[in-house]
Amino acid sequence: MDLDQAITGRRSIRKYSDQTVDGETLEQIIQAGMWAPTACNDQDCRFIVINDKNKFDELLSYGAASFLKDVQTAILVLYKNTSTNQEYRDYYQSGAAIIQNMLLKAHSLGLGSCWVCNLPSQRKVRRIFHIPANYAVIALVSIGYPVSTPKPVNRKHKPDKVTWLNSFGFDEETDFILERRKSFKRFLRKVYYRFPKSSFIRNLAEKLEKKFVN
Ligand SMILES: Cc1cc2nc3c(=O)[nH]c(=O)nc-3n(C[C@H](O)[C@H](O)[C@H](O)COP(=O)(O)O)c2cc1C
Repeated sequence: MDLDQAITGRRSIRKYSDQTVDGETLEQIIQAGMWAPTACNDQDCRFIVINDKNKFDELLSYGAASFLKDVQTAILVLYKNTSTNQEYRDYYQSGAAIIQNMLLKAHSLGLGSCWVCNLPSQRKVRRIFHIPANYAVIALVSIGYPVSTPKPVNRKHKPDKVTWLNSFGFDEETDFILERRKSFKRFLRKVYYRFPKSSFIRNLAEKLEKKFVN
């Protein structure tokens, strides 16, 4: 697949058919992730393949993206958090590069995938999967055969609206209403992480969860 085609044709897919993704295919996706650049070339990534419905249910019971209820296969991407450049959270950056490679590889193999950060707190996810504290949970990547092909979309901005030469363009307008909504949602997420089983907070979180069409 041509690189531009892969980049612009990849979309987040959240609905999958019943067809199982075999181990060899998952290995190819993980392999692609491992070819990503990593800070200091540490390559300190770890992957947990999830195909146990109980694990998905557990994630959901502590608050996770609701579409995971119908997902059969996902890969949890971890990265060692003891890297040396904590100022730039380089382990998250390495993890993110790995995930993007995985999404592109999955797309090139005719699979659909979705990058998922709407997960329970790091502490909870660690407990569910027995992950030691020196690994950060970067995100979960759901994978499966798509039930439909999503429509092509445009990006919100053209490059010239978001790019400046040599210094940041300060004439940017702040959308105060949007920022206030975001800070309210940030606050709610913190509360949710503390009290994931509270039905009141849970209902509110479900209502506020962004609905996607794919
Ligand atoms: C860091 C990150 C976290 C994301 N978390 C979620 C998530 O929790 N749930 C979800 O449905 N999609 C999630 N997505 C997917 C985005 O919603 C998606 O990439 C975006 O809507 C653009 O759509 P596209 O991937 O089809 O181009 C996430 C993407 C990124 C990069």
